[in-house]
Amino acid sequence: MSILKDKNILLGITAGIAAYKSASLVRLFIKAGANVKVVMTPASKDFITPLTLSTLSKNPVYSSFVDEDDDNEVWNNHVELGLWADYFVIAPATANTMAKMANGVCDNILLATYLSAKCPVYFAPAMDLDMYKHQSTKASFEKLTSYGNKMIPAGTGELASGLVGEGRMAEPEDIIDFVENDILSQLPFRGKQVLITAGPTYEAIDPVRFIGNHSSGKMGFEIARVAANLGAKVVLVSGPTHQKINHNSVNVIPVISAEEMYDEVHKYFKSSDIAILSAAVADYRPKFVADKKIKKKDTTFSIELEKTKDILKSLGDIKAHQFLVGFALETNNELEHAKEKLKSKNLDLIVLNSLKDKGAGFGVSTNKVTFITSSYDIIEHPLKSKAEVAEDLIQQILKQLHA
Ligand code: CTP
Repeated sequence: MSILKDKNILLGITAGIAAYKSASLVRLFIKAGANVKVVMTPASKDFITPLTLSTLSKNPVYSSFVDEDDDNEVWNNHVELGLWADYFVIAPATANTMAKMANGVCDNILLATYLSAKCPVYFAPAMDLDMYKHQSTKASFEKLTSYGNKMIPAGTGELASGLVGEGRMAEPEDIIDFVENDILSQLPFRGKQVLITAGPTYEAIDPVRFIGNHSSGKMGFEIARVAANLGAKVVLVSGPTHQKINHNSVNVIPVISAEEMYDEVHKYFKSSDIAILSAAVADYRPKFVADKKIKKKDTTFSIELEKTKDILKSLGDIKAHQFLVGFALETNNELEHAKEKLKSKNLDLIVLNSLKDKGAGFGVSTNKVTFITSSYDIIEHPLKSKAEVAEDLIQQILKQLHA
């Protein structure tokens, strides 16, 4: 899956012959799962039609401050367009547009959007070789990169003039690769392994029965998704669940019992940088597991239970460089109990859910959590979706890691 999936890409097109390649560029961004809008300079419409680009991007194309085809003259809001974009890619970027960008000139909607955009900006120059070599063009490159814009260098090859040399716009595939690699290189969890536990555990009574709980696994899967999207290699050890995740960087390891979860977690802990234990692990399991289905006999029936291993505590006991996060589900004296767990299990952070809070806990898609850090800072959050809670949790971890 591309890092561009679900990202908003604003493609800026200026008046160079390489604009004919913009159609392929839109297609490739769409194929990568991105949402694409196009903003063009008026002159670039001589090279490629807005109709082609709006058809491919499935969005209106902007080339002037007011909608020319509209009798009511709707104003195209360059500020909103700039804010919509997660990434602004200007390809092709002509010498003229780059010189204007470098000097704050703002005489068309593309330039106004550039000045309004707060997102990363990439530009892919395209021009004839002598223009490319000119001192003023070089000065534009320098100024633009000094503002934090990223240049996608032109290639060498046959140019529209018939001359051969530097100035050919990077191929659309290379532009996509450049943007993807650049984004990946900036992700905060790049090169990190995050170990996550999720879901319930089932403790066998006999071949057909077990002791389990209502955990859906949703919280852990959401955390895995957020961590992977931030560049982590995720090992997700999950008890039985209906949750699905389709992400190249998430390795799901299905387990059933607390004992299996313990074994798998210990296989991966040493090589992990962060461990987040969100599973609802059974605290007790049947001491003896019948090898045949137990037949009903007396009016009462008891099962002797024994403690399972506390996976979280076992990690707290051996942790070296790892950042360790636990969950606590409490019904009374919540803060006090959570703080005790934080200390006794040697955690860096604990996520407290109180079952007193409506919308928190098992079987619902929302959660209301309080974070308690190792220095006992208490950060309360309102009721949010589990996806948002996962975002908050990962941001909290990053904050503590960089404190
Ligand atoms: N946990 C674990 N292994 C267990 C039990 C719990 O790793 N055998 C982890 C959970 O994944 C969670 C944290 O410990 O991150 C807290 O679990 P919880 O059941 O709330 O607390 P316990 O320590 O089991 O204490 P109690 O049941 O008495 O509240």
